[in-house]
Amino acid sequence: VRRFVLLGQKASTSPDFALDDIPGTTGRLDVLLRCMRSALLVSHGLRRDTLVYLVLYGGGGEPRTIRIDGRVASYLRPDERTMAGRIRAMLGTKAEGDGFDAERQGMAVADGGLDVVLRDLGVSTAYVLEEDGEDVRGAPLELESPVFFVGDHLGFDPAIRERLRGMGARPLSVGPRSLHADDAIALVQNELDRAARTSPGSAPAR
Ligand SMILES: C[S@@+](CC[C@H](N)C(=O)[O-])C[C@H]1O[C@@H](n2cnc3c(N)ncnc32)[C@H](O)[C@@H]1O
Repeated sequence: VRRFVLLGQKASTSPDFALDDIPGTTGRLDVLLRCMRSALLVSHGLRRDTLVYLVLYGGGGEPRTIRIDGRVASYLRPDERTMAGRIRAMLGTKAEGDGFDAERQGMAVADGGLDVVLRDLGVSTAYVLEEDGEDVRGAPLELESPVFFVGDHLGFDPAIRERLRGMGARPLSVGPRSLHADDAIALVQNELDRAARTSPGSAPAR
């Protein structure tokens, strides 16, 4: 499975937001929703080989994280309003344990931010999507269960970037221009699809 961890520096943990004004009332959850669509949805389908974590650091309290598991997810729609409604329902749910909980149609919620995600990921080959990283074309990509950390419209918080680098996550670039995060994810998925197609023994990406 491919994992994408989307770090929303301002994205709010509160379910009290207006579906008619997602960018203005959520700390730019819309950026993360577009990333979620790019990571998980293909034309008329869902990538059953991908998991996404939305890490929400905004809202003034403790961070919370929503995990969407493409292996079991259902009723995922490409439009932001429907996706925001699903996220809102999850944010209105209490997580009982100290990990991901309250699973519904492939979505689960946890209290906590990067720490809870790292615990859930276990040992993985990690990459950080950075404009000045190593070119994804030519970089050795781990195809079985890579994890990609992605910044939001503000990029990465410096302390988080330090932490990711400190744990050995490899900076990876998808090209010379700074793109919207969802476009960067689409390009990574494309590179993985191509690499999986030519790699002996690997299952074709769906
Ligand atoms: C809009 S960009 C961040 C903008 C800019 N770094 C800043 O500080 O305002 C959002 C995220 O998309 C990813 N990204 C954008 N362009 C990229 C590229 N050329 N290569 C790799 N990742 C990229 C990075 O994870 C980045 O943090």
